[in-house]
Amino acid sequence: MLSMKKTFAHCYLLMGMILSCSIITKTFAQNKITVEADQGKITISKNIYGHFAEHLGHCIYGGFYVGDTSKTIPNTDGVRNDVIAALKKMKIPILRWPGGCFADTYHWKDGIGPKDKRPNMVNRWWGGVTEDNSFGTHDFLNMCELLGAEPYISGNVGSGTVQELSDWVQYTNFKGRSPMSDLRAANGRVEPWKVKFWGIGNEAWGCGGNMRPDYYADEYRKYATFMSDWGNSGGLMRIASGASDADYHWTETLMKNIPLDMLGGVAMHHYSVLDWNKKGSATDFSEAQYFGIMKQAYKMEELVTKHAAVMDKYDPEKKVALVVDEWGGWYDVEPGTNPGFLYQQNSMRDAMIAGLTLNIFNNHADRVRVANLAQCINVLQSVILTNKERMILTPTYHVMEMYNVHQDATLLPLIIKTDDYVFGNEKLPAVSASASKDKKGVTHITLTNIDAAKSQAISIDFTGAKFKTVSGRILTSKKLQDYNSFEQPQKIMPVAFTGAQFKNGSLEVKLPPFSVVVLTLE
Ligand code: AHR
Repeated sequence: MLSMKKTFAHCYLLMGMILSCSIITKTFAQNKITVEADQGKITISKNIYGHFAEHLGHCIYGGFYVGDTSKTIPNTDGVRNDVIAALKKMKIPILRWPGGCFADTYHWKDGIGPKDKRPNMVNRWWGGVTEDNSFGTHDFLNMCELLGAEPYISGNVGSGTVQELSDWVQYTNFKGRSPMSDLRAANGRVEPWKVKFWGIGNEAWGCGGNMRPDYYADEYRKYATFMSDWGNSGGLMRIASGASDADYHWTETLMKNIPLDMLGGVAMHHYSVLDWNKKGSATDFSEAQYFGIMKQAYKMEELVTKHAAVMDKYDPEKKVALVVDEWGGWYDVEPGTNPGFLYQQNSMRDAMIAGLTLNIFNNHADRVRVANLAQCINVLQSVILTNKERMILTPTYHVMEMYNVHQDATLLPLIIKTDDYVFGNEKLPAVSASASKDKKGVTHITLTNIDAAKSQAISIDFTGAKFKTVSGRILTSKKLQDYNSFEQPQKIMPVAFTGAQFKNGSLEVKLPPFSVVVLTLE
């Protein structure tokens, strides 16, 4: 991969007569991509671009929801209007709620009916705070309608009952008269919402009940049996609580023991973290830490490939989706904030995680059909941060918005030969890419260059298509550590990209260091 490359020493004299020598690497167009523009068969599900909203820190309370009595923050039934507008612009397709670990402590009936009559609860996983249950099922599902997003509800298996979860489905989905639909109507909602996506527990191997995979598989079968769609939602997609990272045995046990007609999806969680005991700052990090996080983000390629291979053994027709319903970067909380609230800033490093990971998901669209970035607002790798009446969009938001051109488009297979991003004795592929053709026939390519210092020249060829024009947008900044703050909310924004042009039939692109680019070809 490092062929066609010439290295020579370059010395120069700095002010103050200090002689400095640096190794300059002269590169030619070493990266090559071939897009098979007439070979598209698979749809990239828009739900790969999903998000996650847990009752954790200020994701729900103060993030999405400020209560309908808020005088200073414009809202619709308590949900911030600025948040709704931003998420709609980003085209949020699906939102997972209420957890996370919280889901297996949540009793949904405590969150319906008059708000002043609802019991409170203690959020035992996240900061031990007392919540008043003012944001419940109606609030979430009505909010999803406002956002134009599919709701994805995580059911409580750890401390709930089969009856409780089956009642929840009846409450949200049943059209005719039934105990739960009557209760729904009494609470002000006559028409059902038709919730399709249901998680049966979360991290059942850990905070969801510390179960072993065989035991959980049986639990899943029991819950799934009683979760009818009540003939109204076009079929439920029941999603099994999945593996952590490389626990392929977990996936294998579920695939082996759960009948495929009971299984819509199998989940998997992977966070990009340096060391669970020493995660490091979100904004004050070295190149070594950046490289470490990129290594973790790249791990997603191996994880989805290997989990998908296990699934292929039992489900060669790929009926069951791999649902990566938690992913993203995880660092130390911002200094001075509650350690249980997982509030972290979001830098260009996070933009690189997002660009890279979304390219991986697109290229595995045959199996990965739902994914949820953790988490939407004020928690972990957020797309939005709020501070009272102020709201900012993070670099990750901009990547999600730039990549939304792929939602429900046809994946175009591509072959990529990339130079390496070398750090010390280690290396990673510098360039990642994915391509699709949308319903109007427009082709898009998204590209990332994760190299912290070197730009990458890429030569892109297309088989089976000819294009006349190329335009694009780029997200980058001066420093990898740069981020948008409440003081400088627009420091990192996508701008027009002029580094792509056709030459002798190929598209020649020059990607600056740590940049994310989307190209439109017509
Ligand atoms: O996203 C934060 C937590 O990470 C979730 O609650 C849990 O599922 C995972 O361990």
